[in-house]
Amino acid sequence: MAFIEEDIQSRKSRSHGGFEKLIATGGYIPPDETLWEDILSAVVLRKPVLLKGPTGAGKTKLAESISALCRQPLQSINCSVDLDAEALLGFKTLVQQGGESRIEFIEGPVVTAMKQGHLLYIDEINMAKPETLPILHSALDHRRMMTNPFTGEVILAHEDFGVIAAINEGYIGTAPMNEALKNRFIAYPVPYLTGRQLQELWEREYPGASPELKTFMLNLAADLMKQVENGLLSEEAASIRSLLDATALAQHMDPMRAVRYAIAEKLEDESERELFMDLAETWKK
Ligand SMILES: Nc1ncnc2c1ncn2[C@@H]1O[C@H](COP(=O)(O)OP(=O)(O)OP(=O)(O)O)[C@@H](O)[C@H]1O
Ligand SMILES: [Mg+2]
Repeated sequence: MAFIEEDIQSRKSRSHGGFEKLIATGGYIPPDETLWEDILSAVVLRKPVLLKGPTGAGKTKLAESISALCRQPLQSINCSVDLDAEALLGFKTLVQQGGESRIEFIEGPVVTAMKQGHLLYIDEINMAKPETLPILHSALDHRRMMTNPFTGEVILAHEDFGVIAAINEGYIGTAPMNEALKNRFIAYPVPYLTGRQLQELWEREYPGASPELKTFMLNLAADLMKQVENGLLSEEAASIRSLLDATALAQHMDPMRAVRYAIAEKLEDESERELFMDLAETWKK
């Protein structure tokens, strides 16, 4: 679409000096024809993007692919209960210069991204303490600005500043996301790939793997998705990350051992592990 193309061209034309190394590598394969462009529309409209999906579904890869497409550095924040304002905005430190000491503010990822027009990736946004992130509210909505509480500086976001957050709903250690925070985002589901797109990912990642191994993994993946939908396996049993890892291992060992280490051993439940190995056994034959 023209309005997306134009904006991306203008982003691409900028140079980023020492930040070039924060420009990520692409490679995300979307699950259908619309998701990728629909997400780019929000980016171009300066709306914060929320990627919702299970572990190993490609959320981080998707954010990296936007960074690669726009040739824009990607600043990252990993949320945890001890994430605080300093980790987001930066901190004051004492510097010695010419025998004199003075206080300097070292800018954190949010301030840098806002000023330099980078993309900001906020991973596991529902792992942060509810009182930490409201500091970002004014940067995330139409105001696109914030007052740095440590320096008093008013920061107006660069026109290319953008936010992409990721969330695994319902996992241990996560809390429901604060409504006012969530309300500032446009939310997109990021599902595990299936069918043709999954096959495309395998052809790309493991061009040298034997056709039998690829068929085994793709059949197993499809079956796992079915069992997940039927509620017989937990969602992460079908994680694309684990399936890719299993394929990498299986090129050097018996595929049954590979899927045991990369997938089965990580399932919590003994009965799930058994069901999984039975399914794998069936497809191996
Ligand atoms: N749709 C996809 N396109 C390309 N690569 C994918 C896709 N889905 C998964 N992958 C690959 O699977 C691995 C895991 O992806 P990624 O780290 O982006 O997942 P995630 O959703 O961020 O997981 P987590 O919630 O655990 O952080 C990566 O190697 C990634 O390239
Ligand atoms: Mg991730």
